[in-house]
Amino acid sequence: MDSTTYCAILNFNVVFSATSATQRLWNLQTVHTQISWLQQLMETHRAHCLLLPYPVQGHLNPMLQFAKRLQHEGVKITFAITKFLFETVDEVSASISVETISDGYDEGANGIAMEIYFPRFQKVGSETLTELVLKLQDSGRPVDCIIYDAFLPWCLDVAKDLGVRAGVFFTQSCAVNNIYNHVHKGLLKLPLEESGVDIPGLPPLLASDLPSFVSNPGLYPASAQMFVHDQIENFEEADWIFFNTFYGLEEEVIHWMAKILPVKTIGPTIPSMYLEKRLEDDKQYCLNLFKPMTNACMSWLNERSISSVVYVSFGSLAELEVKQMEELAWGLRASSYYFLWVVRESESKKLPKDFVKETFGKGLIISWCPQLDVLAHKSIGCFITHCGWNSTLEALSLGVPMIAMPQWTDQSTNAKFVMDVWKMGIKAGPDEAGIVRRDAISQCIKLVMDGKKGQEISKHAKKWKDLARQAFDEGGSSDKNIKDFVSKLIQSWRD
Ligand code: UDX
Repeated sequence: MDSTTYCAILNFNVVFSATSATQRLWNLQTVHTQISWLQQLMETHRAHCLLLPYPVQGHLNPMLQFAKRLQHEGVKITFAITKFLFETVDEVSASISVETISDGYDEGANGIAMEIYFPRFQKVGSETLTELVLKLQDSGRPVDCIIYDAFLPWCLDVAKDLGVRAGVFFTQSCAVNNIYNHVHKGLLKLPLEESGVDIPGLPPLLASDLPSFVSNPGLYPASAQMFVHDQIENFEEADWIFFNTFYGLEEEVIHWMAKILPVKTIGPTIPSMYLEKRLEDDKQYCLNLFKPMTNACMSWLNERSISSVVYVSFGSLAELEVKQMEELAWGLRASSYYFLWVVRESESKKLPKDFVKETFGKGLIISWCPQLDVLAHKSIGCFITHCGWNSTLEALSLGVPMIAMPQWTDQSTNAKFVMDVWKMGIKAGPDEAGIVRRDAISQCIKLVMDGKKGQEISKHAKKWKDLARQAFDEGGSSDKNIKDFVSKLIQSWRD
């Protein structure tokens, strides 16, 4: 409720307590006028959501897309990023209002260990988020709901203290949320005692199909604590629970979780022009932490024929072992296909010596690309991916077959679903040393780009592309869930 409305209601009470009969008649007319005015105000009031992403590319993109969808439904949006991001990114090119909070590292948190970063973000983040909400309230833009990344569970306490409603947003798949929920509740004991597990709503999973923080919790203890426990700790107390997935994609597990929790699926969170095309201006994510080499890569792709290029990317965070980089490089060279490979600047020193020179004309290596445009390009035949959840959803929504090379966190579970549940790709298996060898890579490329297996995968890919689009068509599952949230938010404001 904004301050003008508060004043109107205050006036209403004063007017109603007046005494004399003539005065009362006059007052009743005034009251009537004021009620109509209030009703009108309520009709036009735009609910205001403050969205708080975790500040890495794979979390900013889905939150920003969710913000755009809400804005399209008439919700007023404030997108809060850290001061450091605000100073470093070129601009947030979406037409939404951006504000800042602090994670305690306004000069950047490079090299800061997770066990130090998270508590500091919690402390300074809670203080600066409170200040921001109060500032918005004082300036006549009070916040009706804080939607926060599940990695920032302390936002729920801030919201409660301020008397603001809250929605938690999980950027991972529903399957992964379900696994973490089971571990956190003690229904799945760690370390695992069996080589496989049966979890309600999910297909039988091997230990190697589980998120790395579950299959190997000792490897990154601070991150494991955050992923498996902290983000699950209080999420059931939030007013709304949002998952970046869609009903048709994870029907069984969503159905299972929705029996116990009010889960709302609102994905895939990719720009509308790559899905159902109802939001004409929605073509890009609008916030790049890396500078895309758009011209170089798109003009190179324009010269390639249909389905002739293997696109390779491991997202914004993964760090490959030098040996893995080498095997991948020679695997790509051994295949008979063109390749476009994103090697971030921080990874480029791991490329084998002379590789760029030796593959000149056959491959293009760039430090970052407009991935959606690349995946949507007719020349792309398949995507060698680490199976980050955004990359997986993007390939799926654009119907691009995948070769899965999961690295850590949720990626092994995503890879399992890509290969065995959605059947729109294959996993390139590692050897005992955990390295996917060059032969395995070039064989996978051949399988997916050529022959019967490739055709089957393409057929499934087409099916998922259609289903992803349907989720956001008028009346689709995600479209309905977003509209339902907005109408409940407005309703709760009126009540
Ligand atoms: C992380 C985790 O690794 C992932 O498993 C989790 O589910 C989300 O957060 P990240 O590793 O960066 O993200 O991978 P991913 O989820 O795929 O997100 C990367 C994003 O960067 C995608 O939206 C992709 O389109 C974009 N991207 C990637 C580019 O725009 N250009 C590129 O060159 C590479």
